[in-house]
Amino acid sequence: MTRYILITLMATLLLAGCGTGRHAEVKEYNRGINIVPKPYKITETPGVFELNDKTALQLKGDGAEKAANYLKRKIKTAAGFELNEGAAGKGIVLTVNADSTMGEEGYSLIVTPETVTIASSAPRGLFYGVQTLLQLLPAEIESSSRVEGVSWTVPCVEIQDKPRFKWRGMHLDVCRHFFPVEFIKKQLDIMAMYKLNTFHWHLTEDQGWRIEIKKYPKLTEIGSKRIDEGREYKGFYTQEQIREIVQYAADRYINVVPEIEMPGHSLAALAAYPEYSCTGGPFKVRNVWGVEPDIYCAGNDATFAFLEDIIKEVVQLFPYKYFHIGGDEAPKARWKECAKCQKRIKDEGLHSEHELQSWFVQRIEKVLLKHGKKMIGWDEILEGGLAPSATVMSWRGEKGGIEAASQGHDVVMTPGNWVYLDHYQGSNKVEPVAIGGYTILEESYGYEPVPEELDKEKQKHILGTQGNVWTEYMYSPELAEYRIYPRIIALAEVNWTVKEKKDFTDFLKRMNNQFVRLDGHGINYHVPLPEGPVNTVAFTDSAVLRFATTRPVAMHYTLDGSEPGPGTERYEKPLVFHETTTVKIRTVPEAGKMSKVRSIRVLRQKPKKAVTVDSTKSGLSLRIAKGEIYSVKEIGKLKDWTDYQVDEMKQANGLFSYKDPSVGIYTGYFVAPEDDVYEFSTNMDEFYIDGDLLISNDGEVKRFSRNDASVVLKKGLHPVKLVFINNVVGGWPSAWNGFNIRYKTKNENKVIKLGPGDFVH
Ligand code: ACM
Ligand code: ZN
Repeated sequence: MTRYILITLMATLLLAGCGTGRHAEVKEYNRGINIVPKPYKITETPGVFELNDKTALQLKGDGAEKAANYLKRKIKTAAGFELNEGAAGKGIVLTVNADSTMGEEGYSLIVTPETVTIASSAPRGLFYGVQTLLQLLPAEIESSSRVEGVSWTVPCVEIQDKPRFKWRGMHLDVCRHFFPVEFIKKQLDIMAMYKLNTFHWHLTEDQGWRIEIKKYPKLTEIGSKRIDEGREYKGFYTQEQIREIVQYAADRYINVVPEIEMPGHSLAALAAYPEYSCTGGPFKVRNVWGVEPDIYCAGNDATFAFLEDIIKEVVQLFPYKYFHIGGDEAPKARWKECAKCQKRIKDEGLHSEHELQSWFVQRIEKVLLKHGKKMIGWDEILEGGLAPSATVMSWRGEKGGIEAASQGHDVVMTPGNWVYLDHYQGSNKVEPVAIGGYTILEESYGYEPVPEELDKEKQKHILGTQGNVWTEYMYSPELAEYRIYPRIIALAEVNWTVKEKKDFTDFLKRMNNQFVRLDGHGINYHVPLPEGPVNTVAFTDSAVLRFATTRPVAMHYTLDGSEPGPGTERYEKPLVFHETTTVKIRTVPEAGKMSKVRSIRVLRQKPKKAVTVDSTKSGLSLRIAKGEIYSVKEIGKLKDWTDYQVDEMKQANGLFSYKDPSVGIYTGYFVAPEDDVYEFSTNMDEFYIDGDLLISNDGEVKRFSRNDASVVLKKGLHPVKLVFINNVVGGWPSAWNGFNIRYKTKNENKVIKLGPGDFVH
């Protein structure tokens, strides 16, 4: 007995010994230099600097403490020891030195086996030098708890570094969905790691007002709440919380730019104070996505007094010089009909509602200037004449930015195709529902903020770029992170690194190390999914499944129902099936976490026989019952069905409005033009064919359905039933989809869109 205990004890000691100190094995992702964003100039030299509990830390010059404390905290947390501040000997020297030549955000970092020397002309640059030092350490330095078994060494290098652009930002819409203080702090931590310096905080919207304004308490009492799927959705930041976040950002050298939207995207404010609209209301906080026609009345002086009061409170919370006034997507319909707005146009000698918006913005500009603030707005503020001191954020492509820069205005380039992080980053058939668009990591990385057509002497007006995070389809903090990362890191390199040094393949290699860092922070970053086949694939003789990914990453699968992973079969070539099988497949990146598992049913089928019907006419039968339900399971609750027959798209669509919830059940026959495999797609709730449920989107946001499925049909008539719940789920009114059925066949791989008239009944 004793012998066994002894052996166990020895084994335990041996195992523990293997995992510590200098015998630690260097993980592949920790080999080489993996700094992101890539520095301006870097020279590798021989040897390593070893960090341990004897390492001294010296501060020189004024203002090195913040960077030093940050470094100490990171080392204490992950490595578990303290640096010896003030001690002599081998160690780290942090210097703020006016002679440093790399600019306020630049720094030099020299690592030898004896010392690590970081110097900058300003504390801000020193902080970035510390970030680079952390990036030279093993990725585990970003762990939130002590990590054993890592050699805390820094490769010897000489780095001279500075950013390419001044405005290196991330925007966050906290209105469509609200995000807690801790979430924002977490994002600021990551922004600091990648040397991003601007947090653009989108605080007001049609769908919610999220900042406490003491003079107007109803802005949050009423404006921060909306009804979402029958329940109250709410959230706002107190001024105290705002101050806390602004300070947290400042501690990481991040400037915070508040955005208070005007004159449009203001329904939440108008729901609270309808007297500042053109019609007087009443209004409800908008509970569907899209743009609201009711905006601030430009003809009413009281509107400006209200906005001035708000600005007065907001500027006290945000020390940074920029103030974002929105200005995008302000429909002019109300102004056209409003006597006060029309009188304003006349009195001010304006020629259009666009000029009235320009007048509105210039009136606000004067208020901001009085508070010592610089105004920035979306590119619509160019329409009708740009305010003299305005900076433009170009989002509808780069045209507005080019125009503004040509006029001598500063510009932040945020064109949708490259930097909108609400876009899909993979196939909409496998990714969680998003607003649309398609911007994969390589495209974000490839963005060049200075357009070729911009005159050379105007290029200095391009301040940089930022990732815009609109959160309609980010229903949780996890989903927001999924959309933000890693694309924001690609944009960080766009902003920091000179164009000539950018290289996507090299970036991907360095990202292997960065994913481990993101894991240390518990960031739910995107991992590419295996794309190609839909989730239900029917066949008669054989099926061939071809998978692809949006960037080079290994795929592993199983065919026996077990969990795929690095130890299971690697996908190398198309998979061929002759029998019914379930394929489980995921991506297994070189470092960091694996993707979710996709489960694909490959079904061997006998073709479904067509039915014979005596006589048919074009169109579908439709039964509708009024009522608000959120699942097909609740259909039984509905009473009083009314019968219709629909033959046209317009007619079918005209029967449903999201403001009047209902359920429609269509029945009839699909006319299969030939014997073939039919892959169907619909955003309706359920699609039955030949009595079988082929597609169910029940309970999901019914947009860009992820549940396409195929079925083998004989030529001829096949009974169908389509269940359509006319409601709003996740802010998307299903009525906006209209009648929505498509298919493609195996023989002719083109998408056919069906209207009700393509069916018979
Ligand atoms: C915007 O995306 N509406 C600025
Ligand atoms: Zn008006």
